[in-house]
Amino acid sequence: MRILGIETSCDDTGAAVVEDGRILSNIVAAQDIHVEYGGVVPELASRAHITLLPRVVQQALDTAGLDVDKIDAVAVTLGPGLVGSLLVGIEFAKGLALARGIPWVGVNHVEAHLVSAGLESELTPPYIGMVASGGHTEIYHVPEPGVFHRIGSTRDDAAGEAFDKIGKLMGLEYPAGPDMDRLAREGRDDQVPLPRARLKGDTLDLSMSGLKTAAKLFLEKEPRPIPEPRLRDIAASVEKAIVDVLVERLGQALERYPARALTIAGGCACNTLLRQEATRLAASRNIQARFPSPKLCRDNGAMIAHAGHFALERGQTTPFSATAIANLDSFEPLPA
Ligand code: KG4
Ligand code: ZN
Repeated sequence: MRILGIETSCDDTGAAVVEDGRILSNIVAAQDIHVEYGGVVPELASRAHITLLPRVVQQALDTAGLDVDKIDAVAVTLGPGLVGSLLVGIEFAKGLALARGIPWVGVNHVEAHLVSAGLESELTPPYIGMVASGGHTEIYHVPEPGVFHRIGSTRDDAAGEAFDKIGKLMGLEYPAGPDMDRLAREGRDDQVPLPRARLKGDTLDLSMSGLKTAAKLFLEKEPRPIPEPRLRDIAASVEKAIVDVLVERLGQALERYPARALTIAGGCACNTLLRQEATRLAASRNIQARFPSPKLCRDNGAMIAHAGHFALERGQTTPFSATAIANLDSFEPLPA
């Protein structure tokens, strides 16, 4: 089955063609208009999707070497995400499905991240998955195909938000995660004392706000511009503090739930240290570590097509009455 996957939940416009778990094309147009605002501006994002999506879809079809009439189904992100951005993708998908007389299926964006590594290597439940991006930091147990139990999430900022907000205070451009990663590779991670939030009680939730406040306090005292060697040490220390918290929670999740693999997706899954530490954790427990390649870690249409494929295999399609669900939760059944 050839599926066109469409992703427009935030600020990346993505379209991909996936045939039975094999990626034929995966096109993502990143919207650089948000850089000057230091974060995603929802209205600008939806307007940019309107312009970009038809071109990105055409490019996905061209790259796959297929005419639109060779597509068997359309999968699209139903939520969670920015409502205006989601609507652009959903209405496009519905229109295409209606015109072609093929099914369309709405997909949960977070669940798509959680299955994305399966496009490149085997990822079979039960497993523990983390989605760490600018909008999400959540841990899931996936006991069987199509079942996603959220077992922990951030109580305040997402991991990517912590990278971005602290990076901004350091004078880095938005999004700061990639620069932080690059700088940290040559920095010393023990030069700046930073807290690791330990939440009270029996929880796999996590928190980034204490770290952000601590970083803000010491960064106010740094000379400006911060010289590069010092910037590297700060980046290494910030990165280590964020990664320690994430990996500690993953370790606790693996102690509590049966798993044969550990997967991390979302933009922060590109982070070098997070990959190293999570690989080490998985090895210590004798399970597989599955991280999608950088392009698949970020928001993209291929993961939506892949999740859509599973849904269609389960006999799921989505009615035309369904529309964007901005705060869609994994516990919520999708409209059927
Ligand atoms: O998944 P994504 O592309 O978009 C959403 O937020 O949905 O994730 C973007 C986030 C940004 O916060 C960015 O700073 C972070 O992922 N990021 C990284 C790295 N690459 C991207 N964070 C740490 N290290 C990286 N190498
Ligand atoms: Zn995402």
